[in-house]
Amino acid sequence: MLRSAKNTQENKYRFYRSKNTIMTDITAVILAAGKGTRMESDQPKVLHEVAGKAMIRHVLDTCKAAGIKDIVLVAGDNHRRLKDFTSPVYNHIKYVIQKPQLGTAHAILKVFQSKKPLKSGILIINGDVPSVEPGTLRNLINRFTKKRLNGIICSAKIKNPFGYGRIIKNTQGYISRIVEEKDAGPSEKAIKEINGGIYVFKKQDLKDYIVKIRKNEAKQEYYLTDIAGLMSADNKKIESFNIIPEEIQGINDRIQLMEISKVKRRKILEKLARSGVTIEDFDTAFIDENVKIGKDTVIRPFTVIKGRTIIGKKCSIGPFSHIRPETVIGDSTNIGNYVEVKKSKIGNHVHVAHLSYIGDTEIGDGTNIGAGTITANYDGVKKNKTKIGKNVSVGSDVVFRAPVTIGDNAVIGAGSIITDSVPAGSLAIARARQVTKKDWMKRRNKK
Ligand code: UD1
Ligand code: CA
Repeated sequence: MLRSAKNTQENKYRFYRSKNTIMTDITAVILAAGKGTRMESDQPKVLHEVAGKAMIRHVLDTCKAAGIKDIVLVAGDNHRRLKDFTSPVYNHIKYVIQKPQLGTAHAILKVFQSKKPLKSGILIINGDVPSVEPGTLRNLINRFTKKRLNGIICSAKIKNPFGYGRIIKNTQGYISRIVEEKDAGPSEKAIKEINGGIYVFKKQDLKDYIVKIRKNEAKQEYYLTDIAGLMSADNKKIESFNIIPEEIQGINDRIQLMEISKVKRRKILEKLARSGVTIEDFDTAFIDENVKIGKDTVIRPFTVIKGRTIIGKKCSIGPFSHIRPETVIGDSTNIGNYVEVKKSKIGNHVHVAHLSYIGDTEIGDGTNIGAGTITANYDGVKKNKTKIGKNVSVGSDVVFRAPVTIGDNAVIGAGSIITDSVPAGSLAIARARQVTKKDWMKRRNKK
């Protein structure tokens, strides 16, 4: 009894270990050197955001979540910006520069020429395929390893295959070649199974065959996809790994960017909804992937929530609220219409219900912020902090000129411009007294 339990434990351990071994035998090569011409942008294509996160970060996060640690990023003219953007977040990336960009096969050639150490299996992933799931990458690699294939390529059957490479198979069911859109004849164009731009090859095969690829005359580029025909001619086994089309939609222009963002965004909202958050309108809630929201909070229409923001339980956010990064909101708090919150910590049972800007601010539990209140956090040089205590009552249209601290239970008169700190329990009013001139109209009309 004891022994069998122990055995199961050991087997489990072995299983995990073997799974990890597979992933540690893989180098992911991310192709991101392309010009991205169809984006019509000054910005590198892979830095464009998909549902609030740069395309390249989606791909990197997916590799990481799949357990792949060894990553090579192929960058082109954009290499400085790409490096500045990715290196602070992912410190193990090896960068390879491809200049000029002569196609996807040329990108891989550059990786080998760079002499960077590579593992025995190479996962190649186009940098513009941000929707692939970590589980898919794991399954792909596991199948490649288990079946001792020479190569495996993610594919999908799609209704409109226009623009993608088409997968052609031999009688044994292995891939015999891939035909790009530009070179496809009518019968090939009719093929619905497309190349998703995610591949695994043995390093040695890749090294041997990449140098055999000839320049494509129609496009004056070296196509990585030509490797399939060359390997197949030598009886190398390349399988296609069929997955759902959603996961391998590539982004080449801003219309695809918008469409894929929409799908991603919907997934984020569904996940929140399943965890107990009410999203009143899936079409107008824009919530970043890393936002955390507690149960029974209601997100009203036209609301944007960015970054690693955390929102507690039973809150009401929106309509028309804009919650920016590094914000933490407690439970049962109400952030209402036309309220922008940035880098602030807001407690429980707080109301910021109408027309406010709250930036670099702390607000204690039970405080009420009147309509139109602004924290003036920027003095033209640096950002300053506003601290507002618990159970403070702030009238409408108050400006807090930061830095300023308001003690617990204080009351701030409407229309005040608060430049000095206010001790706990005090009333502060900072505005000119009203002047009322009796019978003023009568006197004016006499003149
Ligand atoms: C590619 C595939 C196509 C597949 C599709 C999937 C080739 C020849 N074709 O076409 O079969 O259906 O992806 O989305 O590979 N890149 C470089 N260096 C270069 C050129 C491109 O790093 O010299 C990078 C790009 O930045 C991009 C990726 O490689 O991330 C794919 O290049 P792209 O031009 O978008 O290829 P597709 O025409 O989409
Ligand atoms: Ca592409």
